[in-house]
Amino acid sequence: MNDPHAASLQASTVSAQTRIKVWDILVRTFHWTLVVSFTTGYLITDKFPLHAYAGYTIFALVMLRVIWGFVGTKYARFSAFTYSLNETVQYLLSALRMGKAREYLSHNPMGALMVYLLLAMLLFNAVIGTMLYGAQQLEGPLADIVPTLWDENLEVVHKFMAKALLTLAAFHLAGVLWSSWWHRQNYVLAMFTGYKSAFTRREHREGSGEVWTSEERTRHHKQQR
Ligand code: HEM
Ligand code: HEM
Repeated sequence: MNDPHAASLQASTVSAQTRIKVWDILVRTFHWTLVVSFTTGYLITDKFPLHAYAGYTIFALVMLRVIWGFVGTKYARFSAFTYSLNETVQYLLSALRMGKAREYLSHNPMGALMVYLLLAMLLFNAVIGTMLYGAQQLEGPLADIVPTLWDENLEVVHKFMAKALLTLAAFHLAGVLWSSWWHRQNYVLAMFTGYKSAFTRREHREGSGEVWTSEERTRHHKQQR
C-alpha cells in the first residue's frame, strides 16, 4: 500500500540530496563585490581617490579570499579545486569533444585555473596601481617610497594588466555560460543562491551514469593508490 508519509519523506530526502550548498555567503559576497569594484575601477580611471578605493577594495577582497581558501568552508577551499595535470587535461579533452561531463561541486579544473589566474592578476595589478599612484600622484601608502622616475613604466604595466584582466574576465564569463549549458546547470544562479544541483541531465564519468562529487573523487583516488 502507498504510504503518503513515506512518499513525502522520500521526496524531501531526494530534494535535499539534489540541492547541495556549495558557495557560502563569504564567497558569494566576495564575488559580486569584486564584480562591482572591478567594473568601477575599470570604467572610472580619471577620478581619484575613487579609482584607488576601488583598487584597494579589490586588494582586500582577494586577500580575504586567499585566507578563506585555506580556512573556509569545504567547497571554497583551494584543496577542493586543485587538480592534477592529468585530470585537467582529461576535463579539457572531454570539453573539446563535448563528451560526457564530469560534475564538480567546486570549480571544475578549467574554471579553477581561471580563478587562480584572476586572483593572482587582480592582486598584482592592485599593487602596481598603488605603486603608480605613489610615483605619479605622490598619493597613497607607497608615496615617497616608489621613485617618481618609475611612473611611466608602471603606467605601461598597469594599463596592460588592466586590459589583460578584462580579456580574462570575458573568457571567464564565456566559460561560465558555456559550461552552464554543457553541464545543464545554472552556475550564475548558484553564485547568487549558493546551491548547485548534484544531478544533471547529462551522464557523468564515461557513461557510467555515476555522479562524481569531489569527495567521491578523492575517495576513488585514495583507493587507487
Ligand atoms: C585590479 C585593480 C585595478 C584595475 C583593474 C585598474 C584599472 C585601471 C585602468 C583601466 C586604468 C586606465 C588605463 C588607461 O587609461 O588606458 C588605470 C589607471 C590608473 N590606475 Fe588603476 N586599476 C586598478 C587598481 C589601482 C589602484 C589600487 C590604484 C592606486 C591606488 C590605481 C591607480 C591608477 C593610476 C594612478 C592610473 C593612471 C591614471 C592616469 O594617469 O590616467 N589603480 N587603472
Ligand atoms: C557578470 C559577470 C560575471 C558573472 C556572471 C560571473 C559568474 C561567476 C560564476 C558563476 C562563478 C562560479 C563558477 C563555478 O561554479 O565554478 C564565478 C567565479 C569567480 N569569478 Fe566570476 N562572474 C562574472 C564576472 C567576474 C569578474 C569581472 C571577475 C574578476 C575580474 C570575476 C572573478 C571570479 C572569481 C575570482 C571567481 C572564483 C570565486 C571563488 O571561488 O571565490 N568574475 N563567477
